[in-house]
Formats: sequence, C-alpha cells, structure tokens
Amino acid sequence: MEQYAIKGGNPLVGEVEIGGAKNAALPILAASVMTDETVYIENMPDVRDTNVLLCAMENIGVIVKRTDRHKVTLNASNISELVVEDENIKKIRASYYLIGALLGKYKHAEVALPGGCDIGCRAIDQHIKGFRALGADVKIEHGLIKTQAEHLRGSHIYMDVVSVGATINIMMAAVMAEGTTIIENSAKEPHVVDLANFLNSMGANIKGAGTDVIRIVGVEKLHKTEYSIIPDQIEAGTFMLAAIASKGDVVIHNCIPEHLDCLTAKILEMGGEVEESGDSIHVWCNSRPNKTNIKTSPYPGFPTDLQPQAGVVLAVADGTSIINESIWESRFQYTTELNNMGANITAQGKTAVFEGVDCLLGAPVYASDLRAGAALIIAGIIASGETQLFNLDHIDRGYENIEEKFRNLGANIKRVKE
Ligand code: EPU
Repeated sequence: MEQYAIKGGNPLVGEVEIGGAKNAALPILAASVMTDETVYIENMPDVRDTNVLLCAMENIGVIVKRTDRHKVTLNASNISELVVEDENIKKIRASYYLIGALLGKYKHAEVALPGGCDIGCRAIDQHIKGFRALGADVKIEHGLIKTQAEHLRGSHIYMDVVSVGATINIMMAAVMAEGTTIIENSAKEPHVVDLANFLNSMGANIKGAGTDVIRIVGVEKLHKTEYSIIPDQIEAGTFMLAAIASKGDVVIHNCIPEHLDCLTAKILEMGGEVEESGDSIHVWCNSRPNKTNIKTSPYPGFPTDLQPQAGVVLAVADGTSIINESIWESRFQYTTELNNMGANITAQGKTAVFEGVDCLLGAPVYASDLRAGAALIIAGIIASGETQLFNLDHIDRGYENIEEKFRNLGANIKRVKE
C-alpha cells in the first residue's frame, strides 16, 4: 500500500499542464465500439478508470493499440462478446457506458452493475427509463444489467433528474435508432458536448448538446474518426483552488476557461485574482481567502466534483461559509478528515458550515473518494507539519501524475510505501 507524505507550508508557484478529461474520455472510449472502422483518440488521460475500461473493451474483442501514453486506436470490428463482467469493470462507474454503446450498435448488452466512488446513492433509473423508451427490454439479473431490443426506435424522453450518465447513455443508444429522439432536461456538462461532437465526427446527427434539449436523428451506421478529448475541467479547477488555498500564483495551461466560469466567479468572491488568456488561466491570491457560500448544481452551476477542493479553501477562509451539496448526499466525508487537521466544520445532511480557522495542522488522513483525495492533498500542502494521506487508489482513478504536477509547483509531496 502506498501513501503520500506531504510537508506543508509552501505556496504553489509556477505552471501546470492539464490533461484530457476523464469524464469525457470514458464515454468516448465506450462509444468507439459503435463503428467497425478504426477510431483514433488523442489527449486521453492515463488514469485507472480509463485503463480499466480499455481492458474490459479488450476482453470483449476490441483491438486497442496505445500509440503513445495519450493516444490510442480502437477497432471493434471483431467484438466477440456482448457480456461485460470482469472483476475490475464492476469497480468503475463508467462501465455502464458500454450498455448504451453496445445496445445502440448490437441491440443487446449485458454489463455488470456499476461501482464508482462512495459519494451517495447512485441510481440508474433514468438510464433504464431511456433505454425502455427506445424500445429495449431491460432486466437486472445476477448483478448484470441486461438489455435487448428487436429494433430501437426514436422517442421523446423527459429526464426526471438532470443526469450526466443517463444523458450520455441514452444519446449513444439513440444514435442508430430509427427516427428521431428528443432528450429533454438533459445534462449540459462539457463532457456531454464532447461525446456529441465525437459521435457527430463519426457520422451521427446530434444537435443541441450543451442545451437542455438534445435532438438525435438516427443514422444507419457510424464511421472512423480522429478525435482529441477536451481538457479536464475538474483537474484545472483543482489546481485553481490549490493556488488560492496556498496563497500561491499558478498559470494553468491547456484548459478551456469558459468551462470554469462558475469557479472563477467564486474565486473572485474568495478574494483571489484570475486572468484568462487563450487556453490558460492565471490564478493567484496574496492574502487569506474570504468566506463565501457555495451550492453545487449541474453545469453551468458549481460542480460537485470541485466541492471538496473548495471546502479546503473555506476551511481556512476569514469568516463562516456554507456549502450546500445538491448532487451527492455523502460528499462531506472529507470534512471529518479536515477536522482532524484542525478545521472547524459541521456537516449535516446536504449542508456543511465552515468556521474558518487560521491554519491546518498536518495529520494522518484518509481519502474516501477521488475528489476528497484531491482536497486532502491540497489540505496537506497548506498545513503546517507533515500529513500522511492514505487510500491513494481513489486518487489514481482520475488524476494523472498529480504528485509530480504539485511538486513542480513547489509542493513537498512524495509517494511512499506504507
Ligand atoms: N440520478 C438519478 N437517477 C439516474 C441517474 C442519476 O436519480 O438514473 C441522480 C444521482 O443519484 C445524482 C444526480 O442524479 O444525485 C446526478 O447524477 P449523474 O447521473 O449526473 O452522475 P453520474 O453520471 O453518475 C457523473 C460523473 C461524476 C459527477 C456527476 C455529476 C462520470 C464518470 N462521473 O456521474 O464524477 O460527480 O456526473 O456531475 O462522468 C468524479 O469524477 O469524481 C465523479 C464522481
């Protein structure tokens, strides 16, 4: 088992390069099975979730070739299996994207029920509702979601909740359905748009991605493409918040500033400075951050995936702040760890009250999920003394080389054997 040993106290200063978006890469990789021709993908993050998905795809017969660390070609012309149930795939959430993709192309898919971070109830009723509306039979049996259809037919689907995963899955299942599908109340996240752009580059006919009504006219087949995945909005936001928390000065390259508008607005409220230029964001802060209130909501609202990292800033802000988490009910587990570092946070249900303290003190802490892990790295970097951070496998799911990137900004962080 490995842990991070972090000696805190250095402000983060310098430049950092953001990688491809994990949450865009996962559906894009899955959607690559929808053509028999070869798909070439660039800017793919080398993180555990994408690697597990690629491995599961190889196990069903997809030919996967890594041309370098961030480039991959996929050919799914010889798929031998429509049942995906290897041990690892059960641990990732995005396994269920293979349902939409395989159902859309082969009208049949059986995929292990998804795992993922322990951040709250992760229902899939909206996915199932969408598949059924397109004409598929859906059953859950022996830990598998089994879907099958004679024909998939376009349908008008109103989503009861805004769901990234369900919007993506229904979009994939509908791409080759007969006729037109309309998804209302769809998610608008940048990765939903990226998947739509990817599918359109393969010959799909999807309009409206990025708004709350997506219209898909079914096509007969999809063809090869070359595609570059968008930069990771959450990785960029993590470094923005780390810069503010550490009273540092960081330039973040290869990001799309517009995807971070909501965070930029909060950072200005916290007393930080932000300057955007092309695909870079310069973030700095010279004084103790100000208190502010945050409510997470679907894009373009404040992302739940940046809530724990923002919580670290508020833990040391001047005054009392409130965070309301409206997406995942168990996403305040990191506050217990921050309290073990000297923070004064009271979390109950979907609300946490942060009484800002002057400083955090290094301590042994445990990552309960991916973004909690990122938040605790930031906490270790700003704390006085040494922090040992455990459960690194959560962090490895979604951040590539995170310790090296923080080290290049001046942090004293090492990965060591327990
Ligand atoms: N929901 C339902 N029914 C459904 C689907 C979702 O009630 O059928 C509810 C969920 O319980 C939740 C809300 O809708 O309360 C939003 O869930 P959503 O489906 O949007 O989340 P997801 O697709 O499972 C993705 C990201 C998460 C991110 C959320 C919200 C991936 C692989 N995961 O999850 O990312 O928090 O959207 O933006 O894209 C992370 O990267 O750390 C992470 C957890």
